[in-house]
Amino acid sequence: AKVRNKKMIKKGIILSGGMGTRMSPLTKAVNKQLLPIYDKPLIFYPLSILMLAKIKDILIIVNKGQLNQYKKLLPDGRRLGINITYKEQVAPRGLPEAFIIGEKFIGKNNVALILGDNFFYGQYLTQKLLNCVKLKKGASVLLHKVKSPEKYGVAKVKNNKITIIKEKPKKYVSDLAITGLYFFDNKVIKFAKELKPSKRNELEITDLLNKYKRQKNLKADYIGRGGAWLDTGSLDDFYKTSNFVSAIENRQGFKIACLEEISYLNKWISKKDIRSSIKFYGNCEYSNYLKKVIA
Ligand code: DAU
Repeated sequence: AKVRNKKMIKKGIILSGGMGTRMSPLTKAVNKQLLPIYDKPLIFYPLSILMLAKIKDILIIVNKGQLNQYKKLLPDGRRLGINITYKEQVAPRGLPEAFIIGEKFIGKNNVALILGDNFFYGQYLTQKLLNCVKLKKGASVLLHKVKSPEKYGVAKVKNNKITIIKEKPKKYVSDLAITGLYFFDNKVIKFAKELKPSKRNELEITDLLNKYKRQKNLKADYIGRGGAWLDTGSLDDFYKTSNFVSAIENRQGFKIACLEEISYLNKWISKKDIRSSIKFYGNCEYSNYLKKVIA
């Protein structure tokens, strides 16, 4: 088992900055990823995805000046059995900047990137994630069919191969959106540094993916129609995602993205650690759930 473990992606970056302009004034004083999706801050959801992929070494990139807010919520990760480090992004200059800011953190390893505002849920998702982290060479993306592809980066696929990658196409290309979870080999640092800003003055993730595509090193996988990938981009989508979580949690009685529960099931933490989490959160519904986890 140890040998197999060695080959898996062990490092993950959460890009959790951005101005959240579309959600102002909510995002004027508080970063979007700290706002609630039902009963927990948005960032819990992408963090839980990395943890389900058995990634323990995590870099969270936040806006300049917002580090303290984040550290109050997620200090160094020890309580969760993971290792969290932080870096600031001076300005939202695009997603690929994550690999430039994260160069030291990544080192000689391969790396996963998840956008701080992306929500994934579904049966077999964990299995899929554990498959994705086996990546040795190239890059891989997760695609999902959507009704309004013009809002996302999209991929056209033919005979199982990605033939076109385009950011927010005005003219229809495909209805397969590229979700905000990516897996890259170590070349990503070099490729990110070669990128030039686009017309909207950002480094584009689609330009980065196109570099891998040109080298025939870009793979596509699918979340599938049984899985959910929800948007938290606009205010409306934000509340829809919140309602989704509420509906599932209240119907089934378990929580989506309870970090301590995932860590406990991964055998990364003990009951004692969960008890210290209960102390940390205080007397609340989330703590009551944690008590049930260790009962
Ligand atoms: O959600 C998936 C989509 O995310 C992809 O389909 C697109 O290809 C990709 O470009 C991206 O599109 P968005 O327009 O949704 O990206 P947005 O600018 O909203 O940023 C996504 C998250 O990353 C958001 O939580 C803020 C954060 N961010 C963004 C930028 C540009 C940063 O932390 N730093 C940045 O420089």
